[in-house]
Amino acid sequence: MYHNYDAVVIGGGGAGLMAATQISPAGSTAVLSKLHPMRSHTGAAQGGIGAALGNLEEDLWEWHMFDTVKGGDYLVDQDAAEILAQDAIEAIYELEHWGLPFDRTDDGKIAQRPFGGHTCNYGEGIVRRACYTADRTGHAILQTLYQRAIRNRVDFFDEFQVVDICIEAGACQGVVAYEVATGELHIFRAKTVLIATGGCGRLFRITSNAYSFTGDGHAMAFRKGVPLEDMEFFQFHPTGIYKLGILITEAVRGEGGILLNKDGERFMERYSPNLLDLAPRDVVARAIHTEVAEGRGIDGKDYVHLDASHLGREAVEKKLPDIQDFCGTYLGIDPAVEPMPVQPTAHYAMGGIPTNVDGQVLMDEKGTVLHGVYAAGECACVSVHGANRLGSNSLLELVVFGRRAGRHMAKHLTETDFLEVKPDPRERVKEELARLYEGDGTEEVATIRSEMRDVMMNNVGVFREQKRIDEAVEKVRELRNRYGKIRVQNRSNLFNQELLEALELGYLLELAEVAAMSAAARKESRGAHSRADYPDRDDDNWLKHTMAFRTERGVELRYKPVNISFFDPKPRTF
Ligand code: SIN
Repeated sequence: MYHNYDAVVIGGGGAGLMAATQISPAGSTAVLSKLHPMRSHTGAAQGGIGAALGNLEEDLWEWHMFDTVKGGDYLVDQDAAEILAQDAIEAIYELEHWGLPFDRTDDGKIAQRPFGGHTCNYGEGIVRRACYTADRTGHAILQTLYQRAIRNRVDFFDEFQVVDICIEAGACQGVVAYEVATGELHIFRAKTVLIATGGCGRLFRITSNAYSFTGDGHAMAFRKGVPLEDMEFFQFHPTGIYKLGILITEAVRGEGGILLNKDGERFMERYSPNLLDLAPRDVVARAIHTEVAEGRGIDGKDYVHLDASHLGREAVEKKLPDIQDFCGTYLGIDPAVEPMPVQPTAHYAMGGIPTNVDGQVLMDEKGTVLHGVYAAGECACVSVHGANRLGSNSLLELVVFGRRAGRHMAKHLTETDFLEVKPDPRERVKEELARLYEGDGTEEVATIRSEMRDVMMNNVGVFREQKRIDEAVEKVRELRNRYGKIRVQNRSNLFNQELLEALELGYLLELAEVAAMSAAARKESRGAHSRADYPDRDDDNWLKHTMAFRTERGVELRYKPVNISFFDPKPRTF
């Protein structure tokens, strides 16, 4: 079936929905999502969205910008960080006016809580900057944006999995989508396309990410010649539920929760005397790892305790109701009286599809724009998080840069005509699906996926070293070869999840190789990329972004400079 839309948005999470609200007044807009939009992973961002509103004490957007740059270990592009921190304030009030039910202060302002790495006066002390709705902030944002998009008459195609972005001769023609319910391939002709497909945390064994976070948009763009930027930087959130990885929000620590080792010691006093449990996530994740490695995990196992019991039942029930619910459901414990067992969990890709500050996709290290194609949210790398993202800046990024991308697309579509979708891209897709369907191989998707997740977790995790990363590169290449021999047993066209999981594994394997190769090449420690064999940051040689290209000879790495317009790199202490 053929559809014509001025703009197609791939992904129904926060970035996609925000962009759709901006595009739709200018032209027909379709959101294609492999899930119902309300099930998007934005809903899993719990604790807050950062903005220097100063509702509880003085705060300035310049401080927010500084914290973002320092938190990102100076790999942040500072022109983007300036926009993020400055636009945050207007974007939050816009969401409020659209009906977002923020928690309130006693005098009726938007409530704000502390989050890791957010400080006053350039690092002097902690500031309350994260605006929140209990511990369901992402969900509240998703609801608000979805309603706004419906009001703007955006069309939704739920459970339509985009399988190809049609780019010919450097121009965007539209996309091909697979209708999950029927297996039918649809062509969506569009003047402009936004990739807003979220992250790829399913690369790792222990992750907070939804099953749907399989890097689809990253991989589809990469296959069309778009490079991937800074993929070695993957954030481990310090507090995932032990073994399950499910997120325990940083808001627990924002509200006063503390981390304890087996001796009941508040160990963050040793790692971050100033910010303690609210140091940036890379610092806290490494501290937990070190405690465990040195034998101070609980009961000799690889977890520590997060204790919120001293906050009192009323505070836990009012401010952290979802956390209480998760702990009851998954652990059978009540955080109002018992500590929570936590370990670092793969949470967020700082890298992704390179874009400029208007969301336009960039084709190389020189900044060449791919006209008509945009990216926003976690799959994109406008490089506002650098080597380590601050908590509460991801919801903010998708609102601020989803909005900017949407506005630019609205302008672009008035200046552009539709292109013919030629040759019929469904033929290419059919061939790929047939290879999966009809292949009579010996390999199982689940086995390859499991081996990939283990090697990425063990060899490209919180601490890394050359030998182990190199082993990961080799292993992933072996898995990619074996992927060529997989067998999909379900030959049905109706809700064929087995087929879709096979496709998603192909995307993940491609990204695993890029992430491991980028990590193997970067011989320094910076932010979330922590090398045991190169423990120091090396600004002389490595203050630069990685750009990975897919070539006939395999993945090739090039580099581009960081935008440093305000704050010169300094050693980080917290
Ligand atoms: C959290 O609430 O800790 C997650 C939100 C984020 O990653 O910014």
